[in-house]
Parts: sequence; C-alpha cells; structure tokens
Amino acid sequence: MTAPLGVYVHWPFCKSKCPYCDFNSHVRDGVDQTRWRDALLTELEFAAREAPDRIVESIFFGGGTPSLMEPETVGALIVRTHALWDTASNLEITLEANPTSVEARRFAALAEAGVNRVSLGIQALDSAALRFLGREHSVDEAREALETASRHFGRHSFDLIYSRPGQTPESWARELERALPLAGEHLSLYQLTIERGTRFFADHARGAFALPSETEAAEMYEYTQSRLAAAGLPAYEISNHARPGAASRHNLIYWRYQDYIGVGPGAHGRVATAGGKRAIRRRSGPEAWLEAVEFTGHGTAESSLVSGRDLVEEALMMGLRLSDGIDRANFVSVTGVDPVAALGEAKLAPLIAGGFLEMDDHRLAATPAGRQRLNALLQRLAA
Ligand SMILES: C[S@@+](CC[C@H](N)C(=O)[O-])C[C@H]1O[C@@H](n2cnc3c(N)ncnc32)[C@H](O)[C@@H]1O
Ligand code: SF4
Repeated sequence: MTAPLGVYVHWPFCKSKCPYCDFNSHVRDGVDQTRWRDALLTELEFAAREAPDRIVESIFFGGGTPSLMEPETVGALIVRTHALWDTASNLEITLEANPTSVEARRFAALAEAGVNRVSLGIQALDSAALRFLGREHSVDEAREALETASRHFGRHSFDLIYSRPGQTPESWARELERALPLAGEHLSLYQLTIERGTRFFADHARGAFALPSETEAAEMYEYTQSRLAAAGLPAYEISNHARPGAASRHNLIYWRYQDYIGVGPGAHGRVATAGGKRAIRRRSGPEAWLEAVEFTGHGTAESSLVSGRDLVEEALMMGLRLSDGIDRANFVSVTGVDPVAALGEAKLAPLIAGGFLEMDDHRLAATPAGRQRLNALLQRLAA
C-alpha cells in the first residue's frame, strides 16, 4: 500500500500558559530533553507498526511550543521517520514557533535539522492586545522573528487572533493592513473563542470583558475573507489562507480525511482499516504519557474503530471546512458511500436553496455563508 500519511508530534510544554488557550500545553520547571527524546522516538516506532507501508508526506511538530524542543530532538525524530517509512521527495516538515527572540535564535539549527516550514504564533500586531493575550513577545520581536524565519525556512506562515474584546471592524481592518506586507505564502486568522477551563472563560463569565457582538464578528470575518482574496491569499479553509499551491499539506491531510498518526501526549491519529478508520488517542498528561511509554513502549489511551454513520459524519465535518469542499470520489474511497447519497437529496435541497451548500457531480461544498456557520450546518446534516 502506498497511501499518504501525515506524522504529528506533540510537544506539550510552554514557557507560560496563555489565558485563552485550551490546547494540551503545560508549564514545567525543568524538562528532561533526553528522556523526552527517547520516549518520542519509542512511540514513533510503535506508530510505524500502526500504519506501516505508507509514504509520509508531512511531519508536523505542534504544541504546546515545539520551538522549545532541542533541535537535536527534532532532527532525531526526522531521521527516524525516514528510517521507518518511505517519504515523499517534497516532504513538508512544519514546526510551530513562538516569536520570541530566544526562540528565533534556534531557527538556524531547526532548519539544519530538516524543518522546512514554520508557523509563527504572532497573534496580534498591537502591543496592548499582546499584553491582554498574555503573550511573551512584542510586536517588534514578532517582526524580527518573521524576518529570521524567512531567511532560514523555505516556507512560513503566521497566526493572528481577531474578534478580540475592544476590537472593532475598523481597528481589525487596520491591523490586517499591517499584517499583509509581512505575509509570505500562508496566514492563519482565527476568531477568538472562549474555551471552557481557560482563564478567559472565568474572566468572561464574571464580566471582566465583553466580546464584539455577533454582527461585528461576522463583519470582521467577511471582511477578512474578501480582503485576503484581493491580496492573493484566498481562504482554502475557514481560518486558513494561502497563495495558490501554498496550503499546508499537513492540514489538508486532516481535512481530506486521509491518514495520520500522532505521537506525544494527547496526540490523535486516524488510520484506514477494514470497515472504517482506527481512531487512536494518546494519554494527555505529560508525565502519565512519559511513564506509559517508558514502561510499555507507547502511551495509547484509546484505540477504537470509527465506522458507519460516525465515519460519514467525521469525513463531512472535516471536508466541509475546505473552500473546495469534499471530493465525492475520495469520500467514497474512504467511507464506502457517496456523501450526496448518504445525506439524501431531501436534506440537501433546502440547504442548497438557502445558499449554505453547493454541489455538482464531483464535489459537495459549504458556501462562504455555510462555512461561517459550519456547526449549525453540520447539526442540520446530522439530524
Ligand atoms: C497550538 S497553538 C500555537 C502554538 C504556539 N505555542 C503559539 O502560541 O504560538 C495554535 C494556534 O491556535 C490559536 N488559538 C489557540 N487558542 C485559541 C483561541 N481560544 N481562540 C482563537 N485562536 C486560538 C492561536 O493562534 C495559536 O497560534
Ligand atoms: S497559545 Fe501557544 S504558547 Fe500559549 S499556552 Fe497555547 S500552546 Fe502555549
């Protein structure tokens, strides 16, 4: 079998915890890099037995803050991936980085280790907003990190969070104008979400700040879509924009519902198997994961089969995020059914008439209006 595979590596540590973030990220005084390197390599070997005989198209170091990994650890994982699988000649190797000057100093070594794409968490180009978001970098540091990134990596992207408290459509439009000249081939622009369990959740609940109204948030989203398209970086997914051909291949693996394996605390995988996909999840607590790997060779918490209706719904949930939508032939090869037949014309017709979905013989896609309210759309499709 020569199906493509993505490899995700999770580094769960950060220097500080941002008040909006509910990712599996933790602050620890000391991290034993050698122990962590050995454990990640051990689980990578285990993962190669879960998804053998594939061609790895992408490796993604996510977090947490993987720019805090020793470049030798990153390099060792890349070398081991080449040893365990065949790899594509144009293998994409992405690493998420925080744009502090300390981390930018490691970019040369990370590039040397094989990283060829970096995704920088800039979050805001406004000093007060960076403070509010609890970030450790300044606007100037972010600009310098971007400049350093463009010297060392063939490809780079950065993240911004908008629809922040106090932000208006006008102030976001001005910030976007400051961002566009800095953009390379790819930008991720996320609307702030208030996640349960974060400090922002508690602050918001007690009224410490108010978010922009729904109308303002929708206006910011629509403006972002049109301004970025005009700048040559149209959205290829709800929050992701790229120049033609510059989409993140790793993220496309998720949204096209292709196979990927995950190593590290809380990492997920989906691997095609008879009757559906095997869903694999590793233990999320960093210390529990580390000990499990050291004792048993892997930190798997759950491995179950996704099949039938669940498989169709998961494939829909992923594919409808993409501007290109779902390739019906690819959907059949993954789930065994055509999405239009699975959903039924009676369910689709009103959503198509309402301007939320569109389809032809080859594709089923959410329209921009549909992507803007994707959760509601998916609920209607699942009902
Ligand atoms: C795993 S995190 C980032 C990696 C890196 N540690 C950083 O902070 O730059 C991926 C991205 O998700 C976005 N993000 C995280 N929490 C969010 C939230 N509550 N609302 C909107 N975007 C969020 C941020 O833009 C962040 O850069
Ligand atoms: S946003 Fe990034 S740096 Fe902040 S806590 Fe989350 S993963 Fe860590």
